[in-house]
Amino acid sequence: MFFYYLLKLKMISANLKKVKERIEKLKNEINYHRYLYHVLDKQEISDAALDSLKHELDELEKQYPEFITSDSPSQRVGGLSLDKFQKVRHSQPMLSLNDVFDEKEVSDWQARIKKLLALKDQLNYFAEIKMDGLAVSLIYKNGIFTQGATRGDGYVGENITQNLKTIEAIPLKLEIEKLSSEFKEKAKKEIEIRGEVFMSKKALAELNDIQKKNKEQLFANPRNAAAGSLRQLDSQITAQRKLDFYAYSLVTDLGQKTHQESHRLIKSLGFKESSHNQLCHNLDEVFIYYRKIIKLRSGLPYEIDGTVINVNDNRFFEKLGVVGKAPRGAIAYKFPGIEKITRIRDIIVQVGRTGKLTPIALLEPVKLSGVIISRATLHNQDEIARLGVKIGDTVIIKRAGDVIPDIVKVLTNLRVGKEKKFEIPKKCPFCGFEVKRKKQEVDYYCLNKKCFATQRRGLYHFVSKKAFDIEHLGPKIINQLINSCLIKDAADIFSLTQGDFESLERFAKKSAQNLIEAINQAKKISLARFIYALGIRHVGEETAQLLAQQVMVNLKPKITNLKIMEVLKIFQNFLLEDLQSISDIGPVVGQSIYNWFDDEKNIKFLEKFERAGVEFITFQQQAVSDKFKNKTFILTGALQSMTRDKAKEKIRQLGGKISSSISKETDFVVVGDEAGSKLEKAKRLNVKILNEQEFLKMIK
Ligand code: IVH
Repeated sequence: MFFYYLLKLKMISANLKKVKERIEKLKNEINYHRYLYHVLDKQEISDAALDSLKHELDELEKQYPEFITSDSPSQRVGGLSLDKFQKVRHSQPMLSLNDVFDEKEVSDWQARIKKLLALKDQLNYFAEIKMDGLAVSLIYKNGIFTQGATRGDGYVGENITQNLKTIEAIPLKLEIEKLSSEFKEKAKKEIEIRGEVFMSKKALAELNDIQKKNKEQLFANPRNAAAGSLRQLDSQITAQRKLDFYAYSLVTDLGQKTHQESHRLIKSLGFKESSHNQLCHNLDEVFIYYRKIIKLRSGLPYEIDGTVINVNDNRFFEKLGVVGKAPRGAIAYKFPGIEKITRIRDIIVQVGRTGKLTPIALLEPVKLSGVIISRATLHNQDEIARLGVKIGDTVIIKRAGDVIPDIVKVLTNLRVGKEKKFEIPKKCPFCGFEVKRKKQEVDYYCLNKKCFATQRRGLYHFVSKKAFDIEHLGPKIINQLINSCLIKDAADIFSLTQGDFESLERFAKKSAQNLIEAINQAKKISLARFIYALGIRHVGEETAQLLAQQVMVNLKPKITNLKIMEVLKIFQNFLLEDLQSISDIGPVVGQSIYNWFDDEKNIKFLEKFERAGVEFITFQQQAVSDKFKNKTFILTGALQSMTRDKAKEKIRQLGGKISSSISKETDFVVVGDEAGSKLEKAKRLNVKILNEQEFLKMIK
């Protein structure tokens, strides 16, 4: 018993040591990036990645408060102030806001503050956009702008009055006369307004163009640009920088009762007010507001990085007070970062349909733009070398569009010395066969044509939507069939019996019957789909279509029943040059097709299909016409009367071609609902645009 406790104690203390070490490393890393960001106006990692680092530190400090030190980045308000400008002590500290990222965190915040206020009723909130810029304080005496300062460390900032005077959005004289009499007298004495200096997207792009021309460093974001421009000792430079200002708080108590009233006063005094600010009567309205702003975001002329939710009633706001560096009565409800940090647990290798080996990083799961991510692609050995990534590393991941994110950067300063190097294995992890890098390619391939993993992927592809599309037959059942040795290749699918399926786990008679029916139906297939299903390297959907058309052209008398062996003969008669000279099929693709039909194993494979009764939809059924000969179509948006695949099939049956990108060579763009940028491009290039009705008329 004693030894058991001793062992347990040892484990706990080892764990604590690790946590402490991690906290130290995180603190150093955050401090480093903060210094770059706040003092040098430089940036090595994105705001989102830095937020993510801070979040991990906050979480660890919450769990282990004994490790919080006064020098922790979580304990301070802003950055250091520079020596260049005169120092200014703020009347009240310039605070920051705590960040939240999802509805649950907002609800938790509401629960906390309602408890503190012992409040049962609904709280009202004033919701604002959160500008991405630099916080400043403006002091007006007798209505005249007398002093402007940066936040600095929150208590002492820099006097940048001259520079702020160059910003036209900042009034040099307030319109105190416009205030109602209850506010006027107090306002005359002294008023402090705080807000954000920012730069529009356009102004930032123009500034960066100039920086580029002058071979100077570019500004990564509006915050950097605003900071860089305000910290100019020569205010003439600031004046050229097209800065803007948005006021978000009236620090002086003029008797305003709500945050909304502060905004009204700020507006009357001569500042511009955002049309996107809104009073919300409960959290549901806050959530609707947040979603609305996300949608507006890309169309706004300036960058925002979230919303700010303020308790509207100033009495409550005051009562809630400040904790650490932030007021309790407001939060920054930020947009989900597209970058996060996480750790690599392991690196595995996936073997694709073509035998290609892809290294995949298994991650500690993190939420990235609303989705839990646990894998990231490392692409290939070159990418691993470029990143210098090791197992155990802390990395920044980013979603670029695909669900599988990329690794952007390794935070090498967070290493503990136990990270392990990774290299693509010399042998296939599935079949043990030799692995080789192809000439002039970055990828490694398993050379075993029968490789278990390769085959499995090939089979998934074979039954996929755009290939054989056999109802109910997806990867799960394919796995069961392979594991029970009922199939070895795709052709075996067509010799399966009802009894074969019934022998599998979780299969009843009815489901087995359904599958057999679906398989029988799939035995008649279009030639193009069949070619695509074969999974020949480089042969995608469009190339398969081109090849099918080429076969049709080579069928002299128009036959009605097209057998697999006849098609094979046509392919075997093609010379390499014939294939390579088909328009849109280049030398590499042509060679790949040629090699495939030249391989004895593949011929045996095709014979198996013929024996199992697979054949092509007859020539008449395919009804080739040349109505759309030499015409290229693009489809964009959703059609009402048919799926896009169906529309593509119609176009092809009439001899037309489908392309995915618009060029001058495009003849028609068929436009459905919610058509995107292609429609715009079509208009620009003067390409004929067809709506659904016009298209239907043409294909009739
Ligand atoms: S209220 C206690 N409202 O975001 C600070 N801040 O992350 C009160 N910011 O320091 C700030 N837009 O520089 C507020 N509509 C807005 C804002 C805003 C941008 C900045 C501000 C603040 C930082 C907090």
